[in-house]
Amino acid sequence: MGIYEFTIDHFLSLDDAQCEERIVAAKAKLGKRLVILGHHYQREEVFKHADYSGDSLKLSRQAAQQGAEYIVFCGVHFMAEVADILSAPEQKAILPDLAAGCSMADMANLKKVEQAWRELSAVQAADEYITPMTYINSAADLKAFCGAHGGIVCTSSNARRVLEWAFTQREKVLFFPDQHLGRNTGFAMGIPLEQMVVWDFDKPNGGLSEEQIKNAKIILWDGFCSVHQQFLPEQIEQFRATYPNGKAISHPECSFEVCQKSDEVGSTEYIIKAIKASPPGTRWLVGTEINLVNRLAQESQVEGKFVHYMAPIVCMCSTMYRIDPAHLLWVLENLIEGRVVNQIEVLPNVAKPARLALEQMLAVSS
Ligand code: 13P
Ligand code: SF4
Repeated sequence: MGIYEFTIDHFLSLDDAQCEERIVAAKAKLGKRLVILGHHYQREEVFKHADYSGDSLKLSRQAAQQGAEYIVFCGVHFMAEVADILSAPEQKAILPDLAAGCSMADMANLKKVEQAWRELSAVQAADEYITPMTYINSAADLKAFCGAHGGIVCTSSNARRVLEWAFTQREKVLFFPDQHLGRNTGFAMGIPLEQMVVWDFDKPNGGLSEEQIKNAKIILWDGFCSVHQQFLPEQIEQFRATYPNGKAISHPECSFEVCQKSDEVGSTEYIIKAIKASPPGTRWLVGTEINLVNRLAQESQVEGKFVHYMAPIVCMCSTMYRIDPAHLLWVLENLIEGRVVNQIEVLPNVAKPARLALEQMLAVSS
């Protein structure tokens, strides 16, 4: 085969059925040298090839435990970075499409966080009073910032335990980038809404007065997930009006109002487990990404349960969707040829403190 046969353009001309057959063959050829990790939001044609699936916490544990030479991450950029940081130096983390980012993660960057830290320090010595805590949906340099300042990383499934740990260290928390996960978790712990202020990263001092900063327990970054913010409390009210015995379950990236109206709130893995554990006949309204909800609806139907989607429109994570069978096949067949394409490598000076913050999270949530 010529070199063109290994370019992405060539693979993009293949249909899903052709890709499917060749992915299965490539996986068999690479054997134990390869492990494929797949987030729950992956489309079915890709998800079915994952050796391990899970939420961000489960997948970061898998990334740390896998001995394979190649970790192909069917997810988004920050997940592949975590895989690189937590795996051994000889292992290679690969993201099939480099354009698979996370728009929420992009709402915080090191320059803005450092600026916030300086401005907060002018009010109260930040390194003495504030624990920086980043959601795993963030770039590696923000995890490194947390590691370097006595802070920590959290995921949607361990946010409460991590936040509790953060308050054992210092009296306040700067939480980025998702204000909703921070607010929902803080409120569940008993922190009143008035003590959780939003830091507008485009305004001097986050748009807050000195008094507001001093009185705050959690300073929430003004970030959000554009997929989860489409779910609204009215959608739950409408569902309840039609199905009074139905149950609503939402991801903690949804707004405070949606989470307050939901019967249960949890990570993608939590949502799956809750629906699986419910008895036949249960009817669920689910507020999270469409690919996962469709899969749950299909699987639940066989078990005599009903799964409804919370929004009347399709809320899809368009960046997760960038990982398609063609890109997956492209990276696998190149690996067979000894070419590593789309490797995600975090610089050692960033990886070291980021690893510290991630390991702290794994220790707290074990
Ligand atoms: P989970 O860790 O719950 O899978 O969430 C990841 C994510 O990006 C949700 O939008
Ligand atoms: Fe990021 Fe939202 Fe997509 Fe999750 S669903 S990866 S938070 S954009």
